[in-house]
Amino acid sequence: MRAIAPSILSADFGELRQEIERINLSEADLFHVDVMDGTFVPNISFGFPIMETLCKYAEKPLDVHLMIVHPEKYVERFCDAGAYSVGFHLEAVEDPMPILSLIRNKNVRTCLTINPDIDVHRLDPYLDQVDMVLLMSVFAGFGGQKFIPETLDKIRYVRSEITRRNLSTLIEVDGGVNQKNAGDIFAAGADILVAGSAVFHSDDPAAAVAAMKHSVA
Ligand code: DX5
Ligand code: ZN
Repeated sequence: MRAIAPSILSADFGELRQEIERINLSEADLFHVDVMDGTFVPNISFGFPIMETLCKYAEKPLDVHLMIVHPEKYVERFCDAGAYSVGFHLEAVEDPMPILSLIRNKNVRTCLTINPDIDVHRLDPYLDQVDMVLLMSVFAGFGGQKFIPETLDKIRYVRSEITRRNLSTLIEVDGGVNQKNAGDIFAAGADILVAGSAVFHSDDPAAAVAAMKHSVA
């Protein structure tokens, strides 16, 4: 799969509805929704009011990325608020399994994510337990950072495991994705690329989405 998920974190919140509508008209596949709590990451983004606005105007599924401690307290509420998928950080919890069940019981897709300093092998036991894994290619917390190139090897590793074990788990990559590196990231085995500044800080967000989606290595 080759999907693009614009991260609303980089949108102009003064004209959020127009920003959403621009993405509705583009070839984007999902809206990526970055929720930060100021504790798991040193930044605070937004919560349910923005999620409600997205739900009202977005014509593409909402892919929620929780960068919060105690995701077990909130995952169901994000499911009820209209999420298509809900992901949380493996390193933020003791045992992801009961939290994955809470999401699955709401018929919402599950995603586990890891920051760049977390050993990719820690995902191994969960690759057959989730719909998607999200490999961070920057440290979670801020848009506009530079893609960490070592992520490409992690993508290749997870892709090889998914193929070897004959799984259908999707690989999402988040952070520093742009028109220059998108082709290489897809070629390494990613299915979904998150892009914030490359989309919303561009003069033509729809063209930026299309360029990433169809880029070659
Ligand atoms: C970072 C977020 C990312 C971020 C991506 O904590 O999870 O989704 O918004 O923004 P760019 O594409 O600008 O790196
Ligand atoms: Zn994100």
